[in-house]
Amino acid sequence: MGDIISVKATTEYNVYSGKNILQSIGGLARESFRTAFKLGVISDGNVAPLYADSVCQTLRTAGFTVYLIVVPSGEEAKSLKIYGDVLNKLVEYGFTRADAIIGLGGGVVGDLTGFVAATFLRGIAYANVPTTLLSIVDSSLGGKTGINLPGGKNLCGAFKQPAFVLSDYALLKTLPPAEVKSGNGEVVKYALLKGGDFYKNLLAGGNADAFLTDCIKYKADIVSEDEFETKGKRIFLNLGHTVAHALEKLSNFTIPHGNAVATGLIYAARISEHYGILSNADANAVEKYILSQGYEKNYGYSFKTLAQNALSDKKTSQDSISLVLLHGIGKPVVYKIKTAEFLALPL
Ligand SMILES: NC(=O)c1ccc[n+]([C@@H]2O[C@H](COP(=O)([O-])OP(=O)(O)OC[C@H]3O[C@@H](n4cnc5c(N)ncnc54)[C@H](O)[C@@H]3O)[C@@H](O)[C@H]2O)c1
Repeated sequence: MGDIISVKATTEYNVYSGKNILQSIGGLARESFRTAFKLGVISDGNVAPLYADSVCQTLRTAGFTVYLIVVPSGEEAKSLKIYGDVLNKLVEYGFTRADAIIGLGGGVVGDLTGFVAATFLRGIAYANVPTTLLSIVDSSLGGKTGINLPGGKNLCGAFKQPAFVLSDYALLKTLPPAEVKSGNGEVVKYALLKGGDFYKNLLAGGNADAFLTDCIKYKADIVSEDEFETKGKRIFLNLGHTVAHALEKLSNFTIPHGNAVATGLIYAARISEHYGILSNADANAVEKYILSQGYEKNYGYSFKTLAQNALSDKKTSQDSISLVLLHGIGKPVVYKIKTAEFLALPL
């Protein structure tokens, strides 16, 4: 059944990845949710009409009583209102702590489902079936769950690892091209973090499915080492994200996340070059590749504007900023830079 990638978190679990493996959800759910009688499948208004029937039917054949809960598509679903609606549905359907839920959708559905699982009846089991590139390579594994508050994105959440993740790459065939492009920004990030053959093959235009598996493996290893982001490893996943978050905020979230990350990676490479830890040839290659994939260099914002915006971020301490840089391709490092120095970088 494709690749099986283990995540050694507090509770160990597997990511099953490959093409046309969705039908194995029945067996996986039976194996993982041994006490469950009822299963809730949470999906959004775009994904449910495409895949929910088949998933629910397979789960019913495996012996579960299945309830489909459809939420609106997009960030709106990560709201207190929709979160409350889903909890109320589970109460209405008589779910107990022995039962479980499955998120069938992109990062929005996964984050919401995980947070419902973390909090309903003080915690029930859940699994993710990611359907976007971004959720396959990033959000479906690692246990960060949450919703947005009126004051900002992801301000309310919990760590809660899934019982399993089933990543069927065949589901990406219906994903809109803009979402594919955005997800690919994160794939480039992983290639720069991992280096080696993954990076070389990406630049050479190699096999896309193999890159997805490489990304999952990288993230699985990082989460296994630093589940709660306390050991200085999980922060590497933020490569390119300082500038990306600034771009997203400045554009009022009209620039897709992964596109902003791709631009942020160019800056990360150039800042690394500035500090003499990445060669000019490598920085040039990174920029050339990213621009060749149709991403933007700066969206018309000066570096100073981006830096000022980044410094207003809640995760920044007052007199310095921590940046993930590259000490060569495949060798991420964290640099703590004084804010005045950051603002004055000649980029
Ligand atoms: N928990 C984490 O570690 C983590 C990491 C990164 C991002 N995130 C979160 O992920 C969210 C973004 O996730 P996303 O980029 O997957 O967006 P998304 O979940 O909003 O999906 C994007 C769009 O594609 C549609 N879609 C999904 N799968 C489809 C398919 N197979 N065919 C057709 N349409 C499909 C969705 O309905 C939606 O309109 C953000 O809320 C972000 O905060 C979480």
